[in-house]
Amino acid sequence: MVSTSLPGGTWTLGDLPVTRFGYGAMQLAGPWVMGPPADHGGALAVLRAAVELGITHIDTSEAYGPRVTNQLIREALHPYPDSLHIVTKVGANRDQQGGWPPARDPESLRRSVHENLSTLGLDVLDLVNLRLGDAAGPQPGSIAEAFETLVGLQQQGLIRHLGVSNATPEQVAEAQAIAPIVCVQNMYNLAHRQDDELIDALAEQGIAYVPFFPLGGFSPLQSSVLSTVAARLEAAPMSVALAWLLRRSPNILLIPGTSSTTHLRENIAGAALPLSDDDLTELDKIGR
Ligand SMILES: NC(=O)c1ccc[n+]([C@@H]2O[C@H](COP(=O)([O-])OP(=O)(O)OC[C@H]3O[C@@H](n4cnc5c(N)ncnc54)[C@H](OP(=O)(O)O)[C@@H]3O)[C@@H](O)[C@H]2O)c1
Repeated sequence: MVSTSLPGGTWTLGDLPVTRFGYGAMQLAGPWVMGPPADHGGALAVLRAAVELGITHIDTSEAYGPRVTNQLIREALHPYPDSLHIVTKVGANRDQQGGWPPARDPESLRRSVHENLSTLGLDVLDLVNLRLGDAAGPQPGSIAEAFETLVGLQQQGLIRHLGVSNATPEQVAEAQAIAPIVCVQNMYNLAHRQDDELIDALAEQGIAYVPFFPLGGFSPLQSSVLSTVAARLEAAPMSVALAWLLRRSPNILLIPGTSSTTHLRENIAGAALPLSDDDLTELDKIGR
């Protein structure tokens, strides 16, 4: 078991102990997640600081950059500490305009798993999420062929655990009917509560829910209620948003993204902010 002083303690993804406070590496690539970062050394410093501060869960994808984020992770942290678990996702490519076209046919998925192994410098990927839907969010439709392809790669020993991302509840259930999953990674934060029921159902099954855009992503969370509560607590709104997520459900794992070591430290401190029942009741109104 990982022991940690990070807020939220730990969770076990399948058989992999991780800190509930993780790190999302997407922001390390260039603008709109394309190309290299303006500050290469700064990006390496953020990754090293994350591990030094005790974080054992890093979220990435070959599509970030593309390749850039995985290459930075390898440069900063390889050989990886045994305690560190890198979670990646497959199922989308990048186009010349910076779009994220789906790439969920079996050949693309196999290629993407091998590319992730190669750029990260790993023999086995700890956890691979199948990214579904599109930029507008989850979209209905069967995921059987794509998910079965990943199960085949898992059976070959290339993947330890599987998850789904940007998925509808029906697609989560469809995946689970094919093979066990250890996490669902969907968009969720104080203002976007569409997965409330799903989170509770997954908690009962011991499956992690990993919200992406916990701080609002490319459009930072803005809410007068959030600002009021934050001002009362003399805290930053982002701190309140992260602390609220940790309190929302024990199966929620945080992967806030930042390209700044200062913000990383602020977010860790902020997620530990104590919230009273009155604060929670007030914050609960935002996304309902
Ligand atoms: N599965 C999917 O489809 C999917 C989609 C999107 C993201 N993700 C994953 O989810 C992770 C989190 O999402 P995200 O990074 O897009 O969004 P996010 O965590 O909601 O927000 C990141 C943004 O907040 C800013 N920020 C962070 N801490 C701050 C602070 N203390 N003060 C001020 N600004 C702060 C960052 O800017 P600075 O860099 O200046 O700190 C960045 O612009 C990603 O890194 C990625 O791993 C997955």
